[in-house]
Amino acid sequence: MDLSGATPLLLMAALFCLALYWNGGKRKKGKLPPGPAPLPIFGNLFQLDPREMHRSLEKLSKQYGPVYTIHLGSLPCVVLCGYLAVKEALVDQADDFSDRGDFPVFYRFTQGNGIAFSNGEKWKILRRFALHTLKNFGMGKSSIEARIQEEAQCLVQEFQKTDGAPFNPINLVCRAVSNVICAVVFGNRFDYEDADFLRLLDHFNENFQIMSSFWGELYNIFPHVMDLLPGPHHKIFQNFEKLRHFITERIRLHQKDLDPEAPRDFIDCFLIRMEEEKQDPLSYFNMETLVMTTHNLFFGGTETTSTTLRFSFLILMKYPDVAVRVHQEIDGVIGTNRTPCLADRKSMPYTDAVIYEIQRFISILPMGLPRAVTRDTPFKEFLLPKGTNVIPLLSSVHYDPTQFKDPMSFNPDHFLDEKSTFKNTDAFMPFAPGKRICLGAGLARMEIFLFLTTILQHFSLQPLVAPAEIDLTPQCTGLGNVPRPFQFRVLPR
Ligand code: HEM
Repeated sequence: MDLSGATPLLLMAALFCLALYWNGGKRKKGKLPPGPAPLPIFGNLFQLDPREMHRSLEKLSKQYGPVYTIHLGSLPCVVLCGYLAVKEALVDQADDFSDRGDFPVFYRFTQGNGIAFSNGEKWKILRRFALHTLKNFGMGKSSIEARIQEEAQCLVQEFQKTDGAPFNPINLVCRAVSNVICAVVFGNRFDYEDADFLRLLDHFNENFQIMSSFWGELYNIFPHVMDLLPGPHHKIFQNFEKLRHFITERIRLHQKDLDPEAPRDFIDCFLIRMEEEKQDPLSYFNMETLVMTTHNLFFGGTETTSTTLRFSFLILMKYPDVAVRVHQEIDGVIGTNRTPCLADRKSMPYTDAVIYEIQRFISILPMGLPRAVTRDTPFKEFLLPKGTNVIPLLSSVHYDPTQFKDPMSFNPDHFLDEKSTFKNTDAFMPFAPGKRICLGAGLARMEIFLFLTTILQHFSLQPLVAPAEIDLTPQCTGLGNVPRPFQFRVLPR
């Protein structure tokens, strides 16, 4: 067959598709902030390092200012850098900046269902339902405090079993933290040896790591191309499917013995609402939104908090003087005969400041989750067309020298006044500010305080290397900052 005549036609068709693809990204009217000139198709890829996305974006802001436009492939995104820019958008214009932006690595799995990756009415209704139901099951109340205290004691027992031998805490910490949210969502905690549960948590860790790697970032920029290329990113979707299977199986078990008069947990409440609204074709309560909402709570409630605790252990070993002062405060306020409780927090300003400083310093989700504007939005001297993606660089707020005296150093004084009283600041935003603030922020804060104080009440943490050699730089950074794997010893005090 003679293809010579067809070749130019094919070439023209390919160029036409590329041009469409490219223009699709530029599309809307409006006035976006200036930024580095993008290349067709690649956008600003060559000005970014997908291994350290948030650092590349912070660097570019030195040249283009605190608000600028970057092109991820063909998609323009407005970057907000530093406290003022993030506050002026996410807080002062909270409604305008409250949609979720494109996040292909999650979207392929969630299809915009669930809380974290939906928008509009669906998001509002599912979020309100989740907050209300979680509150009914004890979130923010003493019953969830008791659940965390119990789980913290289980963790102490597991640590005791190590008998002073070195170990990597990742699995034990992940199990303990996950069990708190499992009790609310699934109605039960899992045994630390439960094989299905352990496998699932491995998938969580693996996904958080791959999403935070070069591959995860590249997928977010070029999802269609990456779908065709081999690489570890495919593991993310395999793991998500296993997670879907696990959740679907739990839902099936709940359906078998559901008593509408006595809901036991979040899934029961959702199933009851599904039944109530089954005649309504516009209802947002269906099997898909149940699976994805459960996934949001399960994944969101496990990975970030347990990673924060692992980082906390590393930091306390790197700065033994800080650990000594926390131990002293625990001994003085709580002593050894009772379990730490949330009411202790207000009498422990130093420990409180240490926890805030840890969260600032590690900025566990350095770019938050992408937002988008809900309507054509005037912002500063610009006009962001409805749907424009927005990247709030939370790490840049935490490292903003106008807000923190010495941001590059780990120093609990950032959250203490001259009388050593705890002082908060609006520039503390690990949970992101505004309408989409992390739904589990209250729970996470309780967990970090209770797990950390309970562990430190019982143990001193011993590194296997000199403190100066402890490397706090993340193993990978993207969606999250993931600490390097480490082993330590826990010695009874
Ligand atoms: C240290 C722990 C945690 C940190 C640092 C953290 C941080 C964040 C951040 C930055 C966001 C994005 C907010 C935005 O859109 O700008 C978020 C969203 C979310 N988080 Fe967390 N989170 C933590 C723990 C939790 C826990 C324990 C849960 C579960 C109860 C949870 C559930 C969620 C959900 C469902 C969303 C989506 C909210 C929405 O889109 O409306 N998170 N989190």
